[in-house]
Amino acid sequence: MNFKMIAALAVILIAAAAAWSLFNGPGNAADAETSITIPSFSQVAQSGQIAFEKNCATCHGINGAGTDKGPTFLHAFYKPDHHGDASFEIAAKRGVRAHHWRFGDMPPVEGITDAEIRWITKYVRELQAANGY
Ligand code: HEC
Repeated sequence: MNFKMIAALAVILIAAAAAWSLFNGPGNAADAETSITIPSFSQVAQSGQIAFEKNCATCHGINGAGTDKGPTFLHAFYKPDHHGDASFEIAAKRGVRAHHWRFGDMPPVEGITDAEIRWITKYVRELQAANGY
């Protein structure tokens, strides 16, 4: 092997290591999920968790950790004083045009009831409170 080949190999290895650490670095959904504090939920929030996992978790993730299709709610953006409870109702009923992230638009959630949205909101708020948001 000549020097050029060794240099090229080194570049490839460094790039691979960088990609690997990016993929596994802090802030990805899997990481967030393992570090989330799960409180003991109120009864309403327990109903909310069931409704959340059925209607929201495909994008917002188990425990609200986020996925590659939607954001985590354990983020300063979604603190109650920035996104009040009404934003959950509006989001679920009308959908959301992408503005904070690059996941794309959130479509309206078909068939969700007002009660389910209230329970889900309570569930998310209890999760947030337990995690400092
Ligand atoms: C198909 C994926 C998808 C599903 C399912 C989904 N969401 Fe979303 N949601 C998104 C995305 C993407 C955003 C972020 C939009 C942005 O700000 O860029 C979002 C944003 C939100 C927001 C923030 C709204 C705002 O005003 O910025 C709320 C609240 C929300 N979702 C609630 C819910 C609830 C509650 C459910 C279940 C009933 C749900 N979402 C289901 C993809 C989804």
